[in-house]
Amino acid sequence: MEAWLMQSQSLGILIVMAVGFYFRRQRQKHVKIMSFAMVWDVILILQIELSRSAILKATKAVSNPWILNLHVSIAVSTVLLYIAMIYTGRKLLAGQEQIRSRHRALGYGTLMMRVLTFITSFWAVIPKDLP
Ligand code: HEM
Repeated sequence: MEAWLMQSQSLGILIVMAVGFYFRRQRQKHVKIMSFAMVWDVILILQIELSRSAILKATKAVSNPWILNLHVSIAVSTVLLYIAMIYTGRKLLAGQEQIRSRHRALGYGTLMMRVLTFITSFWAVIPKDLP
């Protein structure tokens, strides 16, 4: 798959998450929008994983494999954080108010990591022969 198609989906997910963040006080909207964003993100990862040629290309194209590793590590951490968001979010829905501060802190961390995933995805597609 073309890199621009992956990156525009990635930007789309970020925008949906920003909307979900905006509605963080309106439970129903917040949960629906965030769930949609996370499902879309997992589908995007599957699309990338399933187009093996893209991964091979990226592995060969990056000037420094360390940068690709950094991008993949940040992306994997983001998905692990999604699991924590679902876990703490469900507890909040069940009325466990004491978990709110953890959900909030993890939420800001998750948003930051998702922005970093997007930024580092640009480094990961720089071809070798470009400066
Ligand atoms: C990436 C995903 C998510 C992010 C970044 C996120 C972030 C946040 C943030 C920042 C708040 C505001 C907390 C506060 O200041 O009190 C919040 C509230 C909340 N979130 Fe999430 N969240 C995410 C996913 C979820 C999911 C999946 C659920 C449910 C399963 C959920 C349920 C809730 C609930 C119930 C509240 C409290 C709303 C209220 O004040 O009534 N969140 N979330």
